[in-house]
Amino acid sequence: MLRSNLKPGSTSWAVRRTQWKFLGLSEEDFERPKIAVINTSSTLSSCYIHLDDISEKVQEGIRRAGGVPFEIRTTAPSDFITNAGREGRYILPSRDLIVNDIEVMVEGALLDGMICLSSCDKTAPAHMMAGARLNIPTIIVPCGYNKGGMCGKAFVDIDDVFESVGKISKGDLSVDQLTDMTNVGITTPGVCAGMGTANTMHILAEALGMTLPGIAPIAANSPKLYEFIERSSRRIVEMIHEELTPRRILTVEAFENAVRVALAIGGSVNSLRHLSAVAAEAELDVNIVQVFERIVEESSLLVNVRPNGPDHIEDLEQAGGAMGVMKQLEDKINQGILTVSGRTVGENLQELKEVDEKIIRSSNDPWRKTSGLVILRGNLAPEGAISKASSAPEDKQFFEGTAKVFNSGTKAIEALEQGAIQPGDVVVIREAGPKGGPGTLLTASHFIASLTGAGMNEEVAVITDGQNSGLNRGILVSQIMPEAAEGGPLAVVKEGDAIQIDLINKKINVLISDEELQNRLEEWVPTEKEVPRGWLKIYQKVVQSGNKGSILLE
Ligand code: FES
Repeated sequence: MLRSNLKPGSTSWAVRRTQWKFLGLSEEDFERPKIAVINTSSTLSSCYIHLDDISEKVQEGIRRAGGVPFEIRTTAPSDFITNAGREGRYILPSRDLIVNDIEVMVEGALLDGMICLSSCDKTAPAHMMAGARLNIPTIIVPCGYNKGGMCGKAFVDIDDVFESVGKISKGDLSVDQLTDMTNVGITTPGVCAGMGTANTMHILAEALGMTLPGIAPIAANSPKLYEFIERSSRRIVEMIHEELTPRRILTVEAFENAVRVALAIGGSVNSLRHLSAVAAEAELDVNIVQVFERIVEESSLLVNVRPNGPDHIEDLEQAGGAMGVMKQLEDKINQGILTVSGRTVGENLQELKEVDEKIIRSSNDPWRKTSGLVILRGNLAPEGAISKASSAPEDKQFFEGTAKVFNSGTKAIEALEQGAIQPGDVVVIREAGPKGGPGTLLTASHFIASLTGAGMNEEVAVITDGQNSGLNRGILVSQIMPEAAEGGPLAVVKEGDAIQIDLINKKINVLISDEELQNRLEEWVPTEKEVPRGWLKIYQKVVQSGNKGSILLE
């Protein structure tokens, strides 16, 4: 019995039947699985511009497989488009807006399953969170990465554009030259090339078992993507008949696999928050920060895609992708985990023909012996913080410097432009976390990109309770927990304090006595902030702490 088949004779059944008859549903259709095609799409951004075409193909595929598709559109945030207003505060809250958007439409309509077209950073996490919350058959389709183009004799992609901005203030690049780069930095639809948050989360969706095996990463609009679209459309209909729901897939062991893959690929730091959020929505009793801390000890960096190293995301796709990484970790991952394919991880891996070890190294011959991501603790981060150690040079894994404190990324950028940031500084960007922002300030990541462009990212460290972009590089610590707005120790750092960051020993400390820190915390008063009326104000009232992935539910 499908839940979408309402009780004949009831009011809901009658009015719904009338509407759907008008839409052209046949008598047979009423008996078929009704499937939401979650088209998180907008014409504002190149990340989404191909999704309407994909949605049509998915709907055709579902009909061919014996289901009835209904397209559902949600809010569609892009980190590089919907970031301009209010210092980018909308970006993280947009993830949870998508989750609730899906709940309203899919649960409200009692649809039987959903296929989610994931693209820009927040979409794959949001889609998995919604699947975990509603627990109806759900399959994720990562809709691929974009490509750059030639600017004169040099290849340029969005990563180059992002990082070149800071060269202008240094006089190393003119606005005209940057304009030329922007003309060719993106030449196809899809998510930012490189191991940013979007590609990381596409790969981790596969590692969790929520996509068909072999899909991530994938070039947008490639024939291979369209093959996966057809297969995924068929598969969601089967999953409904099999009652294969997300909570059968999203087990603690599946999250351990995902964390192992995140560490091996040097994935985006934002994966910590997003995996925590998916686990929280699945109501799993697991602390993902602690899973990272445990698994990091046995992990090394097997993949060296930009911004970590010289390889491109297409190299990873051709070398074997997420499955290739899992194959290299075969002796460590949990192979018995069920996936949306209906088979286990181990069974999926048996189908992988070969892995190009020049790109996806083996654990015996890694790019780096230590993993890409580390969790730091210390008097500044009692509940943890994350750093992408692989985006800092190997000889810069220890940094001690002087605090320069800002409550806004924009103010930090102004200070950089005025020459007020010097080598040896530790730039503190606080009040930038989910509650403090409210919503994490994306300007923190813009500051880091400017720092890189100014050639100072090896001489200046940045620490924040907000987020970085997965494309940032340098000595960076983000998601310091508890955040300053919750009274975390970051709130009481003073200009001129000495701060020590040790990525090898996984420590972050402000070098003051315990007594001094305690006194400052006792005297601390929360910053009064005028939050404009609207979604951000609602978000601030309900957002949970970082170690629960900053979701909106208790
Ligand atoms: Fe959408 Fe980068 S802005 S993936």
